[in-house]
Amino acid sequence: MPILQPIRERLLLGPGPSNAPASVLEAMSRPLLGHLDPEFLALVDRVKDGLRILFATANPMTLPLSATGSAGMEAALVNLLEPGDRIVVGVHGVFGGRMAEVARRAGAEVTTVDAKWGTALDPQAMADAIRRASPRVVAFVHAETSTGVCQPVDAIAQRAREAGALVVLDCVTSLAGRPVELDAWGIDAAYSGTQKCLSCSPGLSPVSFSERALERVKSRTHPVQSWYLDLSLLASYFAGAKRVYHHTAPISAIYGLAAGLDRVLAEGLPARFARHADAGRRLVVGLEPLGFEPLVAEADRLPMLTSVRLPARVRELGEATVRARLLDEFDIEVGGGLGPLAGEIWRIGLMGENARPEVVDRLLEALRKLLA
Ligand SMILES: Cc1ncc(COP(=O)(O)O)c(C=O)c1O
Repeated sequence: MPILQPIRERLLLGPGPSNAPASVLEAMSRPLLGHLDPEFLALVDRVKDGLRILFATANPMTLPLSATGSAGMEAALVNLLEPGDRIVVGVHGVFGGRMAEVARRAGAEVTTVDAKWGTALDPQAMADAIRRASPRVVAFVHAETSTGVCQPVDAIAQRAREAGALVVLDCVTSLAGRPVELDAWGIDAAYSGTQKCLSCSPGLSPVSFSERALERVKSRTHPVQSWYLDLSLLASYFAGAKRVYHHTAPISAIYGLAAGLDRVLAEGLPARFARHADAGRRLVVGLEPLGFEPLVAEADRLPMLTSVRLPARVRELGEATVRARLLDEFDIEVGGGLGPLAGEIWRIGLMGENARPEVVDRLLEALRKLLA
């Protein structure tokens, strides 16, 4: 039997990946080029330009890292932290927790500021921790995919910079779905993923580093412990006049990202953000009569990831059973809860291509049938 068998077309309404449009899938099937082919290097340069528009930054060191969002997170933290450095990490879900763990493994002294899952970080609590710890780095998550909370960035970033800290922001779920303004917010390192609101395949992590961040990397006394993620080595392939081999770039994934960026830029960011906001609202309104209640207060809610408490009918049937039936009978994937929210919530993604009224209506129709 061939290893590759036919693959079903699913509607991906979980926490990512989202569905890729035909243009992205077509781009990924184009002929391979060598990673040092001048044509391919020119394409990489255009991808970097596109990413700068999405991140709203002039940072020259903006590139598609050849690995998933978690590697973007590691790249940001291991380059900026040396053993013994202090970092304040805001934790209001799984991914803030992951940042703290990466920082610990990099040998940093970690202070966490925790917020109840389903709420945003308190800027005052972050400011107090920054004052007490006087950290080299402050890190937090813009769009917490484990809870569906959107974190206001400005106030925390400002306090961090006033205290002389570098600011790291996780934009994995927010990029291309709601405004990300690295330069206006004063962010020094940010990372994202291609499988969420960009609607490309998983496997790349767009990252961006400010000049301040690069100066910090230059003045390190210990080498970055990760060879693969060492920014100064990555720069030899991604930046500078002469490009040399560092690793073999994932050619097809970068073609896909190029097509995804073209689609985002053709739509225009304001229209894309409005489309995500509309779809998120339509979903919440449509779910309420079925007994699903939003976990997150309206002001803090992400449009591209809605977390909802489950109605009695879903609990009766078993939430995992209902999700399995959605997948088997309707080809629709939604996500379950993580950590303390496992079994308590569902996480429904309306990311990129899927942030559309007809997609919301297809899910609501399937749920009505299943819960009847
Ligand atoms: C907010 C956030 N950060 C980091 C990650 C890690 O990204 P990846 O799974 O692509 O490694 C995710 C993935 O869902 C995420 O949602």
